[in-house]
Amino acid sequence: MTEDKSVEPEVYDSLDGQVALVTGATRGIGAAIAAALAERGAVVYAGARDTGDVTADDQRPVRLDVTAGRTVRAAVDRVAEETGRLDVLVNNAGIFQECNTLDAMSMDTFDRTLAVNLRGPTLVTKHALSLLLEREGGRVVNVSSDLGQFTGGQMGGAYPAYRISKVGLGGLTAYLHGEYASAGLIANAASPGWVRTDMGGPNANRSPAEGADTPAWLARFRPGSPGGRFWKDREPTAW
Ligand SMILES: NC(=O)c1ccc[n+]([C@@H]2O[C@H](COP(=O)([O-])OP(=O)(O)OC[C@H]3O[C@@H](n4cnc5c(N)ncnc54)[C@H](OP(=O)(O)O)[C@@H]3O)[C@@H](O)[C@H]2O)c1
Repeated sequence: MTEDKSVEPEVYDSLDGQVALVTGATRGIGAAIAAALAERGAVVYAGARDTGDVTADDQRPVRLDVTAGRTVRAAVDRVAEETGRLDVLVNNAGIFQECNTLDAMSMDTFDRTLAVNLRGPTLVTKHALSLLLEREGGRVVNVSSDLGQFTGGQMGGAYPAYRISKVGLGGLTAYLHGEYASAGLIANAASPGWVRTDMGGPNANRSPAEGADTPAWLARFRPGSPGGRFWKDREPTAW
């Protein structure tokens, strides 16, 4: 499937006055996305299961476990109370559990992976939507993976739970676009590539800042920019 590479979205240079919530912001790609948005001037709520793990002093740590609805609601309520707005939601939190092929996969691995990687973003987005929709051009950025790319003929090669969770995240992205684009929401997904984090390991070819580049860029899209797409290296790619 060929993609139109000629898309040139208009992005905000400055996020002064805007508010972002990033899940899984304690380390890895999420910490780098949060840092990039704070550097652009956004008020950044750094979602963390343990807020003591957020070390950046230009962010607001907020307790948020994507599998615990109470913490999700409380986090969004706090953003609303303190700032009265939410411009950007980055669904970054994710887990990767080793598993070979489906016949050898434990259903515990499947359930846990889907709970964090797919149910989590769905739940956070559900609670954040009303704030995001208060202004034209609220953005949802879903951090997916090359392993979630299913039209490019790359499925297969182990990790079924993770792959299926990220395919589902693409489905959530497409659904959000189909349902809410007309209300001004810009929902996109991105692959960060293979990144040197606890998840990606030391041999990965990208730094966390490099992995954060496209998600953080999508978070700067201005109203009218494209949505419902899957991006890598700032270019649309096949789902
Ligand atoms: N690294 C790669 O090569 C790569 C490639 C493609 C896609 N990705 C995607 O990029 C995203 C970030 O990955 P990463 O490499 O930065 O992973 P990481 O270093 O393992 O960090 C994962 C983050 O997710 C958080 N998290 C895990 N479970 C959570 C939960 N239930 N609620 C809230 N937060 C939770 C962790 O918080 P704690 O500190 O509390 O554990 C941590 O902040 C993931 O969605 C991943 O699938 C990564």
